[in-house]
Amino acid sequence: MQLNGKTILLTGGTDGIGLRLARQLREKGASVISTGRTPARIAAAEAEGFTVITADLTGPEGVEAVVSAFSNRPLDVLINNAGMGVDHDFRLAPPDPEQDERALWLNLHAPIRLIVRLMPALRARTPASPEAMIVNVTSGLAIAPSAGSPVYCATKAALRSYTQALRGQLKGTVVHVLEALPPMVDTQMTAGRGNKKISPEECARQIIAAMERGANEANVGMVKVLQAVHSASPALARAVMLRF
Ligand SMILES: NC(=O)c1ccc[n+]([C@@H]2O[C@H](COP(=O)([O-])OP(=O)(O)OC[C@H]3O[C@@H](n4cnc5c(N)ncnc54)[C@H](OP(=O)(O)O)[C@@H]3O)[C@@H](O)[C@H]2O)c1
Repeated sequence: MQLNGKTILLTGGTDGIGLRLARQLREKGASVISTGRTPARIAAAEAEGFTVITADLTGPEGVEAVVSAFSNRPLDVLINNAGMGVDHDFRLAPPDPEQDERALWLNLHAPIRLIVRLMPALRARTPASPEAMIVNVTSGLAIAPSAGSPVYCATKAALRSYTQALRGQLKGTVVHVLEALPPMVDTQMTAGRGNKKISPEECARQIIAAMERGANEANVGMVKVLQAVHSASPALARAVMLRF
């Protein structure tokens, strides 16, 4: 896809990978409307010249706030990027079901609802902008889960499955479906955890390159290796990843 002149709705565009996507997409000539919750981050993004819709996407009200704030605007690309990790490790502490619910909503229900609510806008093409795109940000952990974060992995694997099926449905239509699978990235989400993280700038760069190529998947950084191992032996990929 040629990104110049495109209108892009980007959830979670006020920090981390999303903020870098917003900046780099703007450099490509796209107009980016972000969403976020935290007032200081929203103010900082607005100070950079971005339009930000305030919405908590852990429930249907947040989705509807985004949809109504976006109504009457043309839409070329929806990037479902906002997501959260969730502690759910019986070896450390009893899991918090409320927190699990929030993660299920933000990471899975909100992307699906946004796709449902915004599909008419994505399908409404003009001669000047004949194609549209949905980008769902999942994770390398959607391919094979780590033992330490079962709920997070389940949300990402479910979104991966939804994305693959949706791509099958929309094949041959004007709406292209891209799944972005980041490895561990150096953002607030992974603060104090892991090493060998890639920068959010590099992660955004690889996702945007996949958008421009019209790829089905953006396998970012080490996720390419995980994909290769998984293609050769899903059991081996699972065994390796379960150690984390
Ligand atoms: N970092 C990694 O290692 C990694 C690896 C694989 C996949 N991913 C995926 O990449 C995506 C971005 O992750 P990130 O590391 O960039 O995260 P991040 O640095 O924590 O940023 C998340 C963004 O989403 C927004 N957000 C968080 N909770 C929200 C909520 N309830 N409602 C609406 N917006 C919310 C945040 O702003 P506010 O908090 O102000 O709302 C922020 O703009 C996520 O889907 C994540 O699962 C990340």
